Formats: sequence, structure tokens, C-alpha cells
Amino acid sequence: MENRDRRKFLGVCLGGIASASIAAVAYPLFRYLSPIPEQENSGKVTFQESDIPEGEAKFFQYAGSAAVLIKNKEQGVIALSAVCTHLGCIVQWQKERGEFLCPCHAGRYTAQGLVISGPPPKPLQPLHVSIANGTITIG
Ligand code: FES
Repeated sequence: MENRDRRKFLGVCLGGIASASIAAVAYPLFRYLSPIPEQENSGKVTFQESDIPEGEAKFFQYAGSAAVLIKNKEQGVIALSAVCTHLGCIVQWQKERGEFLCPCHAGRYTAQGLVISGPPPKPLQPLHVSIANGTITIG
């Protein structure tokens, strides 16, 4: 009788472990196969012009990748890919210098995305921006 209870207990434990293992594999697969949310799918991202202070950078996701919006007096509003053209790290905005720094290998870019120094071989990729009625549209 004692062996029977032990077997039953082990069976329940193994069933639980098997269920957890299946869920651990199935959930990421389900998320991978799920449709992309509407905003990413539309190819356009919008912001209110008033939400972006002068000289600040706003990072966002565009087409499944990191992007950044810069607003300054000289250039107006600029949208760029935030992916470094060297090995793909995400650049950081340095407000006090008015330039981007790549934290991986110290690549530096101007606010317009042009290479200042470091290993990046190309400028940051520009994204199409349009502004109408105070709404900034990227894409
Ligand atoms: S990945 Fe940006 S400088 Fe190397």
C-alpha cells in the first residue's frame, strides 16, 4: 500500500513537470506566431509635436527596431534608426553634447546621424518624417 501511494505521488509530480515543460515551450512559440500589434503593422508611428521638448531625443520602436526622434532649432524634427551601423548596438543621446554615443565601441554621431568618430562605417539611417497639424508621423 505504501509503494502504491509513493508511485501515485511520483506520477503526479512527473505529470506536473511535464505540463510545465510543455507550457515553457508552447508559450514562446505562441507569442512568436501571434500577429504583430496594429501600430507596428501599419508602418507609421505618430507623436504630438508638443510632447517632444527642444533638444531632447525620444526613443521608440519602428518596424521592429529601435528608432529615435530629435527636435532642435537648426534642423527641426529628425527621425533616425537608433541602431549603430557598426555592430548594431542601440545609440544613446547625449543632450549636453548634442550628439549620439554608441556604448559598445564609443562610436559618435551628430544629431543628424553623421559619423563623428569611432568604428561606425555609415551614418545612422534616416527615417521619413512629416508634420501636419502638430502631429509628427514617422514612416
Ligand atoms: S556597435 Fe556601435 S560602435 Fe560598435
